[in-house]
Amino acid sequence: MDKKVTVVGAGNVGATAAQRLCEKELCDVVLIDIVEGVPQGKALDLTEAAPIEKHDAHLTGTNGYDASEGSDVVIITAGIPRKPGMSRDDLLKTNAGIIREVTRQVAKLSPNAALIIVSNPLDAMCHVAFETSGFPKNRVMGMAGVLDSARFRAFIAMELNVSVENTHAFVLGGHGDTMVPLPRYSTVAGIPITELMAKDRIDSLVDRTANGGAEIVSLLKTGSAYYAPASAAVEMTESILKDKKKILPCAAYLEGEYGIHDLYIGVPVKLGQNGIEEIIQITLTDDEQKALQKSADAVKELVEVLKKLK
Ligand code: NAI
Ligand code: 2OP
Repeated sequence: MDKKVTVVGAGNVGATAAQRLCEKELCDVVLIDIVEGVPQGKALDLTEAAPIEKHDAHLTGTNGYDASEGSDVVIITAGIPRKPGMSRDDLLKTNAGIIREVTRQVAKLSPNAALIIVSNPLDAMCHVAFETSGFPKNRVMGMAGVLDSARFRAFIAMELNVSVENTHAFVLGGHGDTMVPLPRYSTVAGIPITELMAKDRIDSLVDRTANGGAEIVSLLKTGSAYYAPASAAVEMTESILKDKKKILPCAAYLEGEYGIHDLYIGVPVKLGQNGIEEIIQITLTDDEQKALQKSADAVKELVEVLKKLK
């Protein structure tokens, strides 16, 4: 393949992302993890599936970074996932150290790559990767909004018994309990769901979306969601590799947009070969803007904690 994507962290999200990337024949994939044998074993297993899945993407599993040199996109999933009863914020310190180290390594060898951060707490980890890499803000972004919006879309489709393909949804804000699902901008075949559902049903879907990650954690008991998260990271990667210019909600560094300064938070962006090519500013009601600000305040708090931990 003429494109290369490195996935750091060969755990549930990373390995599933690697599988989706090669099965879509988007790129060659380098899978990196600190645990010896795991990235090598998973890459070999995926390679052995290739004749059946009918793709010619090359997979490399490794504990070092040499093979990642010249990657077009690097997806960072390395870290520790949430356990039952654990908040995303509990992960802050451990994952910040991991993201710093991983970013240092990938930035050196792939100075032109777009970095897609997945590790939690998501928005704060974007800050770590942004500062450590020294990359411009358009090439450092976080995956959360695509996942949260996909959850909202799935719940809308279930509720109305319609195809998921007819649904569209926007969830903005930080990837946490304060995320901001926007029913006014969420549609079925172009019709806002506010015209299709009673307010109490919308409220219940909004609530389920905001707690979507915790719902999966409480079912799995030994880890967190990975199929939908991997799909979301791959959708972002595909838009960059193919310069599709999709409008997707992603964690982006804001410098005044939505009245928010110097902070990573989920907003609609245009994703193309230059990474985040535009931050789309949609009109929010006073209540929606207040909710976004509250979410930004929660992210800011974590970023301040991070500064003190340094
Ligand atoms: P996992 O535990 O299955 O995989 C994490 C992998 O990272 C492990 O294989 C581990 O060995 C590896 N790792 C740890 N330190 C490393 C290092 N220094 N270098 C390279 N690899 C290292 O976890 P899972 O389920 O894949 O989740 C990964 C991360 O993504 C977690 O922080 C989780 O909370 C987050 N996540 C974020 C989502 C989002 O919407 N942003 C959605 C789902 C997960
Ligand atoms: C999720 O939302 C764990 O953040 C992850 O599933």
